[in-house]
Amino acid sequence: MEKNICVVGLGYIGLPTSAMFASHGHKVIGVDVNKKVVEELNKGNIIIEEPGLGELVESVVKEGNLKAQITPIESDVFIIAVPTPITDDKRADLSYVKKATESIVKFIKEGDIVILESTSPTGTTEEVMLPILNRSGLVAGKDYFLGHSPERVLPGQILQELINNNRIIGGVNKVSAEAIKDLYSSFVKGEMYLTTATTAEMCKMMENTFRDVNIALANELAKICEKVGINAWEVIELCNKHPRVSLHQPGPGVGGHCLAVDPWFIVERVPDIANIIKLSRETNDSMPQYVFNRIGELLSYEKRRRKVTVLGITYKPNIDDMRESPITEIIDKLDKSDYELAIVDPYVSGFRHEERDILKACTGSDLVLLAVNHNQFKELNFKEISEVMRGNLIFDTRNFLNNEDIINSGLAHIVLGNSKRKSTLSYNEVAITQ
Ligand SMILES: NC(=O)c1ccc[n+]([C@@H]2O[C@H](COP(=O)([O-])OP(=O)(O)OC[C@H]3O[C@@H](n4cnc5c(N)ncnc54)[C@H](O)[C@@H]3O)[C@@H](O)[C@H]2O)c1
Repeated sequence: MEKNICVVGLGYIGLPTSAMFASHGHKVIGVDVNKKVVEELNKGNIIIEEPGLGELVESVVKEGNLKAQITPIESDVFIIAVPTPITDDKRADLSYVKKATESIVKFIKEGDIVILESTSPTGTTEEVMLPILNRSGLVAGKDYFLGHSPERVLPGQILQELINNNRIIGGVNKVSAEAIKDLYSSFVKGEMYLTTATTAEMCKMMENTFRDVNIALANELAKICEKVGINAWEVIELCNKHPRVSLHQPGPGVGGHCLAVDPWFIVERVPDIANIIKLSRETNDSMPQYVFNRIGELLSYEKRRRKVTVLGITYKPNIDDMRESPITEIIDKLDKSDYELAIVDPYVSGFRHEERDILKACTGSDLVLLAVNHNQFKELNFKEISEVMRGNLIFDTRNFLNNEDIINSGLAHIVLGNSKRKSTLSYNEVAITQ
């Protein structure tokens, strides 16, 4: 049945969700405090990068099924998709959720549905939103339906994942969860699992925490293997031959607005219990310093001002997102220690020490740091690079580059987690498959 839906927050989550509902038989009003987002949307334009989203938005705006405005409006459904960042002292900043909830209170009427989609600490729906919504004089779960349905989509494939991912739907009671499930069934083809709002909040945080903890384990393994004098990547490959083991991969740190943030929401709530979660966060946060220290050791022979070329600055490969990127921390440390820097990233521009041309960036360099495994860095011409470099060190923090090409060009391939500095063996060549 067609509903009037008001989506509060038109970012990476709220905008695709709005467009999806609007293209599946509903009338959607998108609300954002950012005037530019609203103005552009009403012209059928978007200001974020996401494959397919521009075309979808253009068509639903043209059809009159999606419009944007600065403030909410009376609707049958309210979906809140505002940011839930972290403060400097690692606490959830729920001010956006509170403001968004306050902005809808006066519009809620009997039979409406209110859904929190933002990733939130346990208790946000029932202890933060509910007291605000009570000002409406209506009873949640009786007069209107309230719940939390976290979003699991991956940027770059949001539209397919919105449809195909399984969804968790947590209600303040069963009828709320059922009403929310009924709404999402407009377009969701994945399974939908009903639970309580607080359980749904914990599920979302735990999904990201699971990944963060496992990356921390891999990072710890990388440090251990460097001390023991073996190759962590070989250890990981061999361990993962076990039918019930799936070790993650080490790297220069964990960034983004999910993995580097959400585990802290759990720690904040139960600091005396969430020991592994906290230690994992700290382990991953230690990686930029670790990489910086390794660079210092590797270049300790050089008495002149040292030049480092950094390949990649985003928090993960093949995207333009720099939020919480650990690479920026490595760069800051190098900058403060008076290294000369040249930084290349094919996806972003406008940063300090930016260089668009890789050969130019490598000219006079003592060490090239592969920081992000963007596809564009897979086919580097190391022969040419070796001719323009002053030193000969390629420090690969992702075990991504072609070992043979590097060695054949007279360069040294140093891989994070592999202490065999002069080895010509890549981990694929070790006699493990015989
Ligand atoms: N981006 C992702 O990949 C992803 C994935 C899963 C979950 N999430 C979660 O979804 C939530 C939203 O994330 P996002 O990436 O869409 O954020 P975003 O920063 O891209 O967009 C949020 C939007 O909300 C607007 N806003 C802030 N306060 C508002 C208010 N009071 N009223 C109206 N608009 C307001 C902002 O102007 C912004 O346009 C967060 O909790 C995030 O953790 C994000």
